[in-house]
Amino acid sequence: MINDQRKWDSIFSSRNEDPESSLPRPPALLDDYMEYFWPGPILDLACGDGAASLAISRNGIEVHGVDVSPVGLDRLSKFANHEGLAVKTLAADLDHPNRLFTENLISEARYAAITALRFKATLSCWQTLIPALKPGGYLVIASFNMAHSRKTGFNPKFCLREGEYLPLSDTLDCMHYRQTERSDGNFDEYLFCKPLP
Ligand SMILES: C[S@@+](CC[C@H](N)C(=O)[O-])C[C@H]1O[C@@H](n2cnc3c(N)ncnc32)[C@H](O)[C@@H]1O
Repeated sequence: MINDQRKWDSIFSSRNEDPESSLPRPPALLDDYMEYFWPGPILDLACGDGAASLAISRNGIEVHGVDVSPVGLDRLSKFANHEGLAVKTLAADLDHPNRLFTENLISEARYAAITALRFKATLSCWQTLIPALKPGGYLVIASFNMAHSRKTGFNPKFCLREGEYLPLSDTLDCMHYRQTERSDGNFDEYLFCKPLP
């Protein structure tokens, strides 16, 4: 959505560009899921300026990062270049996830894992993107929940409701769904696996 782009372009523009002092900090939970990204490639939805994408790429895993904010993606590319990492960036609006296929930005059965961290995609966005996952591949989803909103005042509109993504179990195996309290917030975390044919 154009408003999302304006808002996030402005947020990213206001940040310092120095790769030594302003690298985005990965979510604390990321290490718990690194094994599911192997061997890649992985699609990082709403990757922003690369908090997760860069950390995953440092593990030698190919990352394609999608975001609505070209300013965020540009920062991500600069940080990646600075470290000699190759992270492919895709500018796209996840309110229209089907365009990722129709504009040939992604293809079916391409990814070992798809992730979205600290971003609430709609259930229908996830349903649209499942074909991009390889059989045996994982969806790794973790975003702020209602407990986080109650605790910090963070807008509940951007928070996951209890069990909001459990309907994905109709097509994927749910390995776990849990509500966690991490050093950087309260999260709903999901791990799904796409069944082998
Ligand atoms: C809270 S940041 C999270 C960034 C990153 N995943 C992280 O954990 O640091 C939310 C991101 O969602 C992106 N975003 C918001 N609305 C979007 C949309 N409709 N399509 C794609 N990206 C969107 C923003 O540009 C921003 O980078």
